[in-house]
Amino acid sequence: MSKDTDKQSLSNKMWGGRFSASPADIMEEINASIGFDKRLATQDIRGSKAHADMLAAAGIITKEDAKRIVAGLDQILGEVEAGVMKWSRALEDVHMNVESRLKDNIGAPAGRLHTARSRNDQVATDFKLWVRDRIDAMDMALGVLQLSLARKAEAHAATVMPGFTHLQPAQPVTFGHHLLAYVEMIGRDRGRFADARARLNECPLGAAALAGTSFPIDRHATAAALDFDRPTANSLDSVSDRDFALETLAAASIAAMHLSRFAEEIVIWMTPQFGFITLSDKFTTGSSIMPQKRNPDAAELSRAKVGRIAGAFQSLLMVMKGLPLAYSKDMQEDKEVTFDALDSFGLAVAAMSGMVEDLEPRADVMRAAAGRGYSTATDLADWLVRELKLPFRDAHHVTGRVVSLAEGRGVELEALSLADLKTIEPRFRADALDVLSVDNSVKSRTSHGGTAPQNVRKMARGWVRKLEKAAERV
Ligand code: ARG
Repeated sequence: MSKDTDKQSLSNKMWGGRFSASPADIMEEINASIGFDKRLATQDIRGSKAHADMLAAAGIITKEDAKRIVAGLDQILGEVEAGVMKWSRALEDVHMNVESRLKDNIGAPAGRLHTARSRNDQVATDFKLWVRDRIDAMDMALGVLQLSLARKAEAHAATVMPGFTHLQPAQPVTFGHHLLAYVEMIGRDRGRFADARARLNECPLGAAALAGTSFPIDRHATAAALDFDRPTANSLDSVSDRDFALETLAAASIAAMHLSRFAEEIVIWMTPQFGFITLSDKFTTGSSIMPQKRNPDAAELSRAKVGRIAGAFQSLLMVMKGLPLAYSKDMQEDKEVTFDALDSFGLAVAAMSGMVEDLEPRADVMRAAAGRGYSTATDLADWLVRELKLPFRDAHHVTGRVVSLAEGRGVELEALSLADLKTIEPRFRADALDVLSVDNSVKSRTSHGGTAPQNVRKMARGWVRKLEKAAERV
């Protein structure tokens, strides 16, 4: 937007009563938020319509004026949606741009809209409405990701892969079980968003600048019209609170951290060294110099987004730290970081959902890897405990010697014979060899939450059913 055409002739036309000169150029530049808060236009208009209706119902403005205000606001909404609304930097922010445009459209009654309200309660309301919409959208997107994971988990309830600790082969697990771990994490993420939403859902509108108002407003009516549970209880808190944005960013940071872990696993699994999965051309890119390359860029970028999101949380936390009550202009810095963080989050979730649907495990490679690294040693130790009643510590020691024997020969445990085992513990029987297979290993993990395919199938089915039902409801 060009500054010259925007610049008001003298002082700001919305609040310039006692100002005689224009702001310094740099003042306008640092002060104006229209460049980014125009994103709140829909919410701003929604809030203003509710406010105008309430003012009329309470007899503070006439019904006729309210009607013209609401119609004028609807017209602006149309202009915003059509992308033809002209934003002026000299008018600072979305609130004053909308009000000024309303004046162009309907004339004098526009000046009555700001009765019993301030930009302080207005921006708090707009921003809450925006964050609330985003929470709902993020929740839905996370539900889609969970469903993709749960469906893939059901299909691969018995697909064996190595389970790792310290990124060293630990015990075999199933691919379905691994995916369901993320379904659980995302379930907690959705819970955190839901908690934030529940606390957010009080309406600041009507707190006015900071002290409330002398007009007989009905804050319960505006709260209800904007789908809030109730009005906020303290006017000072109403205009100075940004907890709702912080909580949402905190929840998004944790959720993005989860996405980054999964994205990292996709990156690792995609390496030729692991080769656990394939991703199609849809989510990979080539190299401009190395013809053989297939790079998991979408996973890498999803992994990276947590930096911006957690950074936004820190940024807003530091903006709010030490601010005295009530509103300070510092708080205008709440928006850009929140917009950017939640946009980034939405992108990362969508990319992850796409990748989950796209990726195919290479069952043969995973199975072979699952059997390497003596991954069933614990099963052998458990056999000694169960069948020979050895204390676990002794069983651990005996099994350690078995592993050492295999290691010395350069073979896996499954390659050892009963005779080999007997050289270490003469009471070994043939059935001890059975527990060394990766399939029998996972099958035996039937404890609650364990990786046995029957458990995984049941859990995955339960999730799919629940998530499909929830998706039907929207
Ligand atoms: N643009 C401002 C913001 O985003 C709106 C509130 C301005 N309030 C004020 N008293 N100057 O925070």
